[in-house]
Amino acid sequence: MEPETSLNFTLMLTFLLYLNLVMGVLSVDHYRRVDFPDEFVFGSGTSAYQVEGASNEDGRTPSIWDTFAHAVYEHGENGDLACDGYHKYKEDVQLMVETGLEAYRFSISWSRLIPNGRGPVNPKGLQYYNNLINELISKGIQPHVTLHNCDLPQALEDEYGGWVSRDIIRDFTNYADVCFREFGDRVQYWTTVNEPNAFALGGYDQGTSPPQRCSPPFCTTNSTRGNSTYEPYLAVHHILLSHSSAVRLYRRKYRDQQHGYVGISVYTFGFIPLTDSEKDKAASQRARDFLVGWIIEPLVHGDYPISMKKNAGARIPTFTTRESEQLKGSSDFIGVIYYNNVNVTDNPDALKTPLRDILADMAASLIYLQDLFSEEEYPVTPWSLREELNNFQLNYGNPPIFIHENGQRTMSNSSLQDVSRVKYLQGNIGGVLDALRDGSNIKGYFAWSFLDLFELLAGYKSSFGLYYVDRDDPELKRYPKLSAKWYKWFLRGTIELKKDASFDSVGHLFQ
Ligand SMILES: *[C@@H]1O[C@H](CO)[C@@H](O)[C@H](O)[C@H]1NC(C)=O
Ligand SMILES: *[C@@H]1O[C@H](CO)[C@@H](O)[C@H](O)[C@H]1NC(C)=O
Ligand SMILES: *[C@@H]1O[C@H](CO)[C@@H](O)[C@H](O)[C@H]1NC(C)=O
Ligand SMILES: *[C@@H]1O[C@H](CO)[C@@H](O)[C@H](O)[C@H]1NC(C)=O
Repeated sequence: MEPETSLNFTLMLTFLLYLNLVMGVLSVDHYRRVDFPDEFVFGSGTSAYQVEGASNEDGRTPSIWDTFAHAVYEHGENGDLACDGYHKYKEDVQLMVETGLEAYRFSISWSRLIPNGRGPVNPKGLQYYNNLINELISKGIQPHVTLHNCDLPQALEDEYGGWVSRDIIRDFTNYADVCFREFGDRVQYWTTVNEPNAFALGGYDQGTSPPQRCSPPFCTTNSTRGNSTYEPYLAVHHILLSHSSAVRLYRRKYRDQQHGYVGISVYTFGFIPLTDSEKDKAASQRARDFLVGWIIEPLVHGDYPISMKKNAGARIPTFTTRESEQLKGSSDFIGVIYYNNVNVTDNPDALKTPLRDILADMAASLIYLQDLFSEEEYPVTPWSLREELNNFQLNYGNPPIFIHENGQRTMSNSSLQDVSRVKYLQGNIGGVLDALRDGSNIKGYFAWSFLDLFELLAGYKSSFGLYYVDRDDPELKRYPKLSAKWYKWFLRGTIELKKDASFDSVGHLFQ
């Protein structure tokens, strides 16, 4: 080689190395659909009461949400009509096809399938869910089905108090049996109960949501029929036992033929220590124990977190050895529901009060950065979603995870140009990719929600949908928002996204 050529060659190598480094850096900032594993699924979700409507049709009986919404919410703020998904499912599946969804997460209305909660199956209810599932399958969309999305049949609430009674274990297991038997040939992904932790805090501690059981001074209502110091623990205890009972049934009776997976979902925040102090860091972990470990640790270790047992004492129920054995390993995956963060600070004084609910037992104060019931948009903090996902790796043995809900809240009357939703989803999907690269065992992502629907905390005032539903139109016509188009482009692989969500104009979004 001539010296000059050799020099050029060296320069070229240096340049190639440099290019490689630069591209390496760029690949951290940008992502495309192909950066996720092939078997990773992207979808979107809804739930029965929030989307179906037809609340009094074809044999369906009320759930605790029907009762609550009618008693508490303003006129029209209920799921009587919702998005009329019961009649419009074909149209909606077609929209899913156009959006390129790989999976759809929805729930079964227990009181539509088995009116009154137990006993004979309602053939019309059966037909509806068969139709929906068949429609999805025929379009190549994977159904992910939840059995209980906060909507217990009112009849079971009336008969024995619903989730505060052990009777529920038998009825839930029988309901799950019907679902596995009827739909399990086509459904591979089952979630027993949606966010039991949030359900128990709203429904049995503060009384902000059904079944509105609570006691002073924790109640937001004048209810006298609950016990906020005890029933949230009891309700979750029965939910966990119902879950493990349904899973045991599935494994014994169906898994060999159906090859499916049964999990549970949990509501989580990003738990951020308010200061760098060790006390606030410990308080954040305690908050995570009390809100997330409460559901997950029994499924992993067969018992509640140590901090919970210590602070709640005799008010937290105990598992028998047999129950504990049955719980251990009883979730094939965890559904993670994440929207926003809370700052957490140590609050040991809370333990000095004799009358304590779970939030006091926690001995930590959660500083909500936003009112849960407001219409304020969420900040975009992918680092915190990544951190919470990685916490499942650190604390709970790296279980398979589906992000079951994640989405941006806007006013429902805001524009179809929902740039803030695009930024939120784009940032957080980037956070999911970061967590995957950190070794977290994440299997899929479902944007909440597919349509603008009846929001459980805010009715129709706020919205999370990729599609706007015109509620002034008797046909309830759906319109794609920018976020629906953006998701489609992402899923088709036609755009590369910036992971950093701090860009400021739509122009940059699609580069
Ligand atoms: C509870 O009862 C008191 C007195 O009867 C009444 O002033 C108050 O408005 C009630 N609160 C709620 C949330 O219903
Ligand atoms: C709530 O339940 C606990 C534990 O069973 C009991 O000690 C307490 O008296 C109950 N409180 C009310 C208001 O019923
Ligand atoms: C509180 O939480 C916000 C949002 O996650 C975060 O940016 C902020 O740093 C936190 N505040 C403190 C004092 O840590
Ligand atoms: C949406 O409604 C709220 C109050 O209901 C109003 O303040 C706001 O201006 C409306 N926004 C649009 C874009 O119409």
